Amino acid sequence: MRVLPASRLWPTLVTAACLAAARPAEAQKEFEIYYQMQAMNDALGVSCTYCHVPAEGARVDYKAESNPKKAVARKMREMTADINARVWLATGTEAAREASVTCVSCHRGVAVPGPIAGIVQRAIEREGVEAAVTQYRDLRRRFYERDVYDFTEAELLRIARGYVDSNPDTAIALAAMNLDWRPRSAASYVVMAIAHTRKLDDKGAIPLLKKALELDPENGAARGHLLKLEEFQHLREKR
Ligand code: HEC
Ligand code: HEC
Repeated sequence: MRVLPASRLWPTLVTAACLAAARPAEAQKEFEIYYQMQAMNDALGVSCTYCHVPAEGARVDYKAESNPKKAVARKMREMTADINARVWLATGTEAAREASVTCVSCHRGVAVPGPIAGIVQRAIEREGVEAAVTQYRDLRRRFYERDVYDFTEAELLRIARGYVDSNPDTAIALAAMNLDWRPRSAASYVVMAIAHTRKLDDKGAIPLLKKALELDPENGAARGHLLKLEEFQHLREKR
């Protein structure tokens, strides 16, 4: 039987297989299924009924096929085996076996894997930036140390910059959230300042650029924008 566990579960599984060797064939088969299933639970961060159908009492009908997630999981298993076969065909090395792709390679503990930018953008479209900020904070709390999403400043500010023209308040809210964790982030102040200029609020932008330069005197973007805004202001006052 093909075993596709999370790679870090290998040691457990090897032990399990040794123990299982002493069992009757039927019991051993069940045992192996259980370990495979547990590995899928862990890889997707779900419980058994994510794919299986609850039955009477506290029982679960493991044979039922009515939950569409089960069909997806079966296809995913075929795809994963396929990928591994292709990797092995491509290289023919033992290393290919060791580096085998498992559910966790893509899922990393979540049922629907995907980049953080997509999650934030969808939340903004559907529920607004406040809900998106709440969701980001929640994901960051739960997954920060698990290498699931890219929580770096670079990625968060990239998302924020995407809104500078179309929705400056959204860009400001995202960059302001970054300051909660990185209060000395000059780049966040620059994003907020540029968003203010898009709202034609140069007066609001200037102190933000000054703050950015105070934190990072070498910040060329902050210096450039500040010079430009001060020049505009000067011209306006002369008129
Ligand atoms: C991500 C989806 C998914 C999760 C989560 C999952 N399973 Fe499964 N399970 C499947 C699929 C798909 C099959 C059918 C495998 C096949 O056809 O070879 C299956 C088959 C089984 C079977 C064999 C059923 C039969 O036909 O005899 C058992 C028993 C089972 N799972 C138990 C569990 C248990 C216990 C858990 C929780 C620890 C669990 N499963 C979690 C997808 C899942
Ligand atoms: C090559 C990457 C990759 C691998 C390997 C992979 N998956 Fe997936 N899986 C995805 C992506 C991406 C999605 C989300 C697709 C979507 O929502 O359109 C997904 C979705 C799913 C879903 C549906 C989740 C939902 O709620 O809609 C299930 C169930 C699933 N995978 C199970 C598995 C299992 C079990 C394995 C291991 C046998 C596995 N996947 C291996 C990439 C992968």
